[in-house]
Amino acid sequence: MSEDNKNRAQFATRLGVVAVTVGSAVGLGNIWRFPYEAGANGGAAFMLLNLLFVFVIGVPVMCAEFVIGRHTGANVRGAFRRLSPGTGWGVVGYIGILSSVLILSFYSVVAGWTMEYIWRSVAGFGGMHADAESLHSQFDEFAAGNVRPAMWTVLFLLCNYAILARGVEKGIERVSNVLMPLLFVILFAFCVHSLCMPGAAEGLGFLFRPDFSQITPSVVLSAMGQAFFSLSLGLGCLITYSSYFSRRTPLVKTAFLTASLDSFVAIVAGVIIFPAVFTFGQEPAAGPRLVFEVLPAIFAEMAGGAVWSALFFVLLFTASLTSTVSMSEITIAWLCDDMHMSRRRATRINIGVAMLLGTLCALSFGCLNGVRMFGMTLFELFDYVSSNVLLPVGGMIISVYAGWVLDRKVMRSELAPATRRGRALVGTLVFCMRCVAPVCILLVFLAGLGLLPV
Ligand code: PHE
Repeated sequence: MSEDNKNRAQFATRLGVVAVTVGSAVGLGNIWRFPYEAGANGGAAFMLLNLLFVFVIGVPVMCAEFVIGRHTGANVRGAFRRLSPGTGWGVVGYIGILSSVLILSFYSVVAGWTMEYIWRSVAGFGGMHADAESLHSQFDEFAAGNVRPAMWTVLFLLCNYAILARGVEKGIERVSNVLMPLLFVILFAFCVHSLCMPGAAEGLGFLFRPDFSQITPSVVLSAMGQAFFSLSLGLGCLITYSSYFSRRTPLVKTAFLTASLDSFVAIVAGVIIFPAVFTFGQEPAAGPRLVFEVLPAIFAEMAGGAVWSALFFVLLFTASLTSTVSMSEITIAWLCDDMHMSRRRATRINIGVAMLLGTLCALSFGCLNGVRMFGMTLFELFDYVSSNVLLPVGGMIISVYAGWVLDRKVMRSELAPATRRGRALVGTLVFCMRCVAPVCILLVFLAGLGLLPV
């Protein structure tokens, strides 16, 4: 660690490191995005592909981000500038900053929806019925209503501001330590409930019985995009976070633990959602609205449903918050370190830009619905471009850099294998960084965009 990093903030405890990293990874990506992507892309086959990508590409790229971040103790742009000054590698920093702003914008819209649903739960859901038809129209009415979705988006971003302005240890770490364990407990309770529903067998069949004829290049690309999105990879989020790790944090273990917990939560979310989808005769391929139509149907059936519902959406809201805080930290750390801004000013700029773009995304379900590029609304475009293009490209560059350019001694000292088995594992990870991940990402990417004859 260089001299100027001595005063850099650090996460205080081992538990804190795991809580913030898992807090970044686990969020709407698992509970909202995974079920709707799996629903739209054939269920089990998508899930298996996604798991493959998580462990073959995700874990090595995560280790690469950790090594670069902790070794340099810098933000995503500064890290590459420090390691390879005067070269083009720093472009990955800009890709990361751009992706983080795009993701923050559309993600805040969905997080805003969770706030609306907290409100509705408290207000007793206005005599909600569990039938698919009325849940569908309730969501439609809300999302197309312009004012409320935009208002919640802005409010959600203000909550981010409140945490971010307090700084790394006090704000981010404390919130994560309490909320992440609570989320696991409640997900587990809902999972048990869903397994008792009449549509459980059909739902589980959809999620676990693969039909490989469903796999097309675009399904494979979506499964890879989902892995990057859900693990917060490819945009330097984990480079930024690991710059706050202490020397004692075991990087490989943290990467495996994060990837496993993250996949586990996504699968549990699937186990909650799909039995209900089939029980209530809903459409698995409903898209981003899926979870917001299915969950209220579950709650309407439960004793004390309003309380469960409020609790669930509060936890989903906080899981989103720990993720958006990590996205924002990418830009804020860059503005503070490299542009020499105060933390408050940097936070204000980051949140301000996201408010503007986020409001446009929120309106793309209402008055801006007709504004389309490549057939997609702004919301869909931001999601597609960031998850399926920018994150994989960023991940590929980071992986190539760590595997081929970074000094091997740095890699060894950061990953520090103590045993023979540890050395073999690190060897495999480095091989994946050098060859497997870049080649796979490139092929999937080109095929998914229709640029390869398959
Ligand atoms: N991984 C987060 C989620 O699953 C989203 C995220 C993406 C967070 C990129 C940070 C960076 O919800």
